[in-house]
Amino acid sequence: MTQNDVILAQIGCGYWGPNLLRNFSSLRGCLVKYVVDSSPERRTFVETNFPRTKAVESVSEVMQDPEVNGIVVATPAGTHFELAKQSLLSGKHVFVEKPLATRVSEVDELDCLAKERELVVMAGHTFLYNAAVRYVKRLVDSGELGEIRYIYSQRLNLGRIRSDIDALWNFAPHDISIIQYWLGDPSPVAVHRLGMDFIQTGVDDVVFLSIVYPNKVIANIHVSWLDPQKVRKMIVVGSRKMVVYDDVAEDKIAIYDKGIDKKAILGQNMDFDNPRPELFSYRSGDILMPQVQFTEPLKQEAEAFVTSMRTGGKPITGIPHARNVVDILEQAKALKPE
Ligand SMILES: NC(=O)c1ccc[n+]([C@@H]2O[C@H](COP(=O)([O-])OP(=O)(O)OC[C@H]3O[C@@H](n4cnc5c(N)ncnc54)[C@H](O)[C@@H]3O)[C@@H](O)[C@H]2O)c1
Repeated sequence: MTQNDVILAQIGCGYWGPNLLRNFSSLRGCLVKYVVDSSPERRTFVETNFPRTKAVESVSEVMQDPEVNGIVVATPAGTHFELAKQSLLSGKHVFVEKPLATRVSEVDELDCLAKERELVVMAGHTFLYNAAVRYVKRLVDSGELGEIRYIYSQRLNLGRIRSDIDALWNFAPHDISIIQYWLGDPSPVAVHRLGMDFIQTGVDDVVFLSIVYPNKVIANIHVSWLDPQKVRKMIVVGSRKMVVYDDVAEDKIAIYDKGIDKKAILGQNMDFDNPRPELFSYRSGDILMPQVQFTEPLKQEAEAFVTSMRTGGKPITGIPHARNVVDILEQAKALKPE
């Protein structure tokens, strides 16, 4: 029998929680000893499907168990901060689904507690463990795309509506996280927001979020659960090449050798302040669809948390990254009309 050195308790096992539970339960040396859920139906689900895991109602029971060294939080966003804080105060590492908290001040409080107690805090920004997202990151970092000019994303569906948070807080943590990762986690210069609540008053069903970064880089994120099509698409336009990342397509990445360059011919056509059409050359070359070796992102994510617990290493979705995501969401929230 293998010895388990990582003993976890997961709080929340609703729609998303079973995916985390399955992945954490499958890791070598890792036991999910408890699932805490306030719903009796969800506790029955756990006991039926995960016989090694005990389903309980009380959070304090698992916080008091000295054998538990890590907590996985998969409850609605509004509960994340308090549960994460309680975990750290109980001396346990904590993995928190996205978004890590609903305010930057809360993230900072968690950061202080984690540093004092030398504990890991990791947020569930799953896409940073996705092979296609990492492929695009390598393209950006290698300079193959040239200078990044703009990025836009669409995360749309006729989807599951929430009442506790709007479409922006539900979906955009993914897009913000990916864009921040590709760009090297810069601080934005400005954030703009346009959204509307059609179905439930005060809960936006559709939001367009624009982010202005230093060096004339801009991004736009369109999220909606009120849309005819399921779309999960991100487009990066660079000065040399352009990339389409389509998460629901079979070929997830397409690299377009397309662009518009200024022609510089020595002695002529050098007056770029007065452009004429012949001063520009249009490039429309090959489209490359690379094979991306795919492993389940959630497995990678679960492994990253457990590895950080064991080694004390910093996960890429630790507090600095998660803080930037919450910061942008909080700025967008402040722009929402009353
Ligand atoms: N990474 C991803 O791709 C992804 C996808 C979907 C959801 N999520 C995240 O997962 C989290 C959960 O989302 P969901 O859609 O599963 O929500 P959900 O409402 O379906 O499930 C939440 C579960 O937590 C339980 N719960 C709530 N508060 C509790 C408490 N204080 N103590 C014990 N149990 C409690 C509820 O009974 C429920 O079973 C959210 O933070 C969401 O953003 C992430």
